Amino acid sequence: MTALAVPVLEDLPPLEGKRVLLRADFNVPVQDGAITDDLRIRAALPTISWLQDHGATVVACTHFGRPKGAPDPKYSVAPIRARLAELAPGVELLENLRFNAGETANDPAFVAELVAGFDAYVNDAFGASHRAHASIVGPPGLLPSAAGRLLAREVEVLGEMREHPNRPFVAVLGGSKVSDKIKVIEALLKVADEVLIGGGMCFTFLKAQGHPVGASLCEDDMVGACKALLDAGAAIRLPSDVTALGPGGKIGDPSAGGDVRQMGASVPDGWMGLDIGPGSAAEFGDVVQAARTVLWNGPMGVFEDPRFEAGTRTVAQAVADSHAFTVVGGGDSAAAVAQFGLADRIDHISTGGGASLELLEQGDLPGLQALRGTWNG
Ligand code: 3PG
Ligand code: MG
Repeated sequence: MTALAVPVLEDLPPLEGKRVLLRADFNVPVQDGAITDDLRIRAALPTISWLQDHGATVVACTHFGRPKGAPDPKYSVAPIRARLAELAPGVELLENLRFNAGETANDPAFVAELVAGFDAYVNDAFGASHRAHASIVGPPGLLPSAAGRLLAREVEVLGEMREHPNRPFVAVLGGSKVSDKIKVIEALLKVADEVLIGGGMCFTFLKAQGHPVGASLCEDDMVGACKALLDAGAAIRLPSDVTALGPGGKIGDPSAGGDVRQMGASVPDGWMGLDIGPGSAAEFGDVVQAARTVLWNGPMGVFEDPRFEAGTRTVAQAVADSHAFTVVGGGDSAAAVAQFGLADRIDHISTGGGASLELLEQGDLPGLQALRGTWNG
């Protein structure tokens, strides 16, 4: 048993004829009413089958988007319910938990309402287990409870990566905001041998190195924190070249014009860095190839725009080709490996973005503590 151990399905009392409340994270990407990636629904199927095979009636619940504590048709779970009915017939899905303000407020009255009529609770919502919300931390206090297969597997893989990684352990981080990830970067620097930084947030670091960043994303109030890390000699690798869009150009709209140019790490006025450059992508790829453990979270550039996908594609390919144990976390990087047809070649695609980073950072999550009976909010 590791320090992270939580009760699992086998620890539940007999379930024949019983009703089980399954908290899942079916917060899937939806465009024009259609689910664009059902990974999070498919990922819950092993738990659902196990429960049904053991005679239970399964009622699932999830949040979807961020409605403001009241019903909002835009965030109805209807498309998710339809997909779930195809993948797992006989499983009911409750309406969006966040239609009730008691969910995010962790209101005991809402917890009581949720668990009424159930005999057991299973948390398989890894992607939401960093939230101390009613449906995550409440039911274990009232019902026999366990982690589902997905949650247990995520915790095992990420816990192992944090505690006993094969070395070199390389983390590749992208995404737009340093402020979201600075704590994770600091935590990763303690366990990883090197942290490679791309994506929008690299420009705040480049500015801290003294480079002009033009019109690129940059969090001025984080430059000091980045500089402190770099000055302390942190094992951070930044891009040495970038791909930028010139004045007049529009992200996602090549027809709007604007030059696209590769340049060093300095971006002139009016230009916007939107991807790591080819030299940096090749270099990041080499570092990934030489690693024995790789964590990748966050795209290297705006890969939805074909003009700025090369950095993300090169890194995705290197992660797929690597002999390392490879973990990809976060909705955007998971979408990128799927878009490039590489998903099968990644050892573990985490269903949690924020949750995987918080688990790596803190070594535990409120949802896990609740299952263990150690959460005291
Ligand atoms: C996610 O998509 O990251 C999880 O479902 C959590 O959603 P939240 O960030 O809205 O809590
Ligand atoms: Mg591999």
